[in-house]
Amino acid sequence: MCIETIQGEGGICPVNPEFLELASRLTKQGGALLVLDEIQCGLGRTGRHFAYQHYAVLPDVVTVAKPLACGLPLGAILTTERVASCIHPGMHGTTFGGGPLACAVAIEFLREEKKLLKHVRTLGEYFHAALETLDKKHKSIHDVRGAGLMLAVELVSPELAKAVAKQLLHQGIIINRTHETVLRFLPPYVIQKKHVDQLIGALDAALHKNAESAYEKTLKKEKTATSRRKAVHALPRTLAEICENVRDFVVLEHDERIIGCGALHLYGVHLAEIRSITVDPSSQSNGGGRRLVKALLAQAEKHKVTCVCLFTRIPEFFSRLGFTTAAHQDLPDKIHKDCYQCPRLYRCDEVAMVRGDVPTFAILPPPKNWLKIHA
Ligand SMILES: Cc1ncc(COP(=O)(O)O)c(C=O)c1O
Repeated sequence: MCIETIQGEGGICPVNPEFLELASRLTKQGGALLVLDEIQCGLGRTGRHFAYQHYAVLPDVVTVAKPLACGLPLGAILTTERVASCIHPGMHGTTFGGGPLACAVAIEFLREEKKLLKHVRTLGEYFHAALETLDKKHKSIHDVRGAGLMLAVELVSPELAKAVAKQLLHQGIIINRTHETVLRFLPPYVIQKKHVDQLIGALDAALHKNAESAYEKTLKKEKTATSRRKAVHALPRTLAEICENVRDFVVLEHDERIIGCGALHLYGVHLAEIRSITVDPSSQSNGGGRRLVKALLAQAEKHKVTCVCLFTRIPEFFSRLGFTTAAHQDLPDKIHKDCYQCPRLYRCDEVAMVRGDVPTFAILPPPKNWLKIHA
């Protein structure tokens, strides 16, 4: 099983610790190898030799490359003794592999890397804190994340990210835009506070200058969108309007107090979707959510629905209620009706789940840009 510990091109997304620990357990149980791709995040980038050292796992194989020979082409794999014992000299070769010049540079890099780890951590914290300060100031910042000197700012729109990256380039600061909306910062390990300050000042100004015009551009785009898109913006806003549009709206009460609510949408006769679940935090730990989902499932049963689906960020909770994870493309009907209009279409982090059999008629032809969901 191969996992990138902190996704680089994917928008600086660190792997979820529970996911990595489960992957480690499952590979051990199944006799498979856990391979961590640290080509971008390894070799000191996060302030540790390897990014996996921020987690409680020990991989079987780690891949490293980019900074290894400071720009000269060189990659390496590191393995446990057990894995290494399966590979013998001559089994794997490449024309330029292990060239003396690249290897000499790599040895020098490894000497320097050791000395720079503390500096990467200190500067990383300084940089991270400065980005957090910008986050508080600019509504156009959606998220700040990363570790050491592998940091990212996620902005609210691709247009803004593009405009900011372009403006910074004009000021001599090269940053990369990954995953449409993410500004990625991978500075040299020897960067100083003054360089961070310079970037933060320029970024602050670029956000001030571009946020409004990017927002206007987005609005303009919305205006010229298809009638289908417009219909979504005319979605009901009040509780009464919502109730008219959904098949069932369940309100959960306790001691005459509303502690939660959720909606059931019917897609045809066999498929329903649970949406908009909200439970008062004080009732979450004493079974409020569970009671609400059960009430919604009972409603679905009344309508003789054979399959209930939902999209969630807490799959563990729903799996305890009999839901299993499904591929997003198993529920294209839902994707047609909802995801297609969602601004997070390209970076959806919700898990699709189903309870019961997915009716075959739910498999509709994909919308035009459906494949991009999985890109
Ligand atoms: C995390 C990660 N893995 C693998 C690669 C591919 O490396 P190479 O270009 O050496 O094939 C890259 C390149 O950007 C990368 O960022």
